[in-house]
Amino acid sequence: MKPEKTLMISPIQHGTVIDHITPGEGLTVIRILGISRGTSETVTVACNVESSHGGRKDLVKIANRELVKDEVDKIALVAPDATISIIRDYQVVDKKPVAVPQEIAGVITCPNPNCITNTKEPVPTRFVLHSRGYRCSYCDTVISRERDIGDYI
Ligand SMILES: Nc1ncnc2c1ncn2[C@@H]1O[C@H](COP(=O)(O)OP(=O)(O)OP(=O)(O)O)[C@@H](O)[C@H]1O
Ligand SMILES: [Mg+2]
Ligand SMILES: [Zn+2]
Repeated sequence: MKPEKTLMISPIQHGTVIDHITPGEGLTVIRILGISRGTSETVTVACNVESSHGGRKDLVKIANRELVKDEVDKIALVAPDATISIIRDYQVVDKKPVAVPQEIAGVITCPNPNCITNTKEPVPTRFVLHSRGYRCSYCDTVISRERDIGDYI
């Protein structure tokens, strides 16, 4: 007999849920949020779980923290379908999809070692959304969205 579906993650009282993360990017989200060995925050991560919308997803829940815009923008780069829910007193008080930025400055590194942004006196990076990913405004190198971009954040 198939076991009944149960909530795999215990509820949080206050905090943030990042749901509908592109499968495989949950750990990138953890890195973007600066969570690593030594941080004391309570975090749960689920990878490749079934989505009620069909298919699979990753999911991150973090107690007692609300994200800042810069963090949400970075998450949008690797997980464009993610939603950010704010939890207060166990209730979802706000839920928003992330917005994929048209332009990103100073967030990702250009993969081209000869790019002016990688020289001894570097200029801040600037990438613009492009059909296949993000394009460096200085050397035109394209970083493919979803597949590679997490490596350059
Ligand atoms: N108290 C809580 N603690 C932890 N996670 C919560 C809590 N309340 C809601 N969530 C999670 O927050 C997310 C958004 O909640 P909501 O009730 O809007 O989910 P939903 O109806 O499944 O929506 P969606 O269409 O986005 O899947 C879900 O992932 C849900 O599991
Ligand atoms: Mg759901
Ligand atoms: Zn460049």
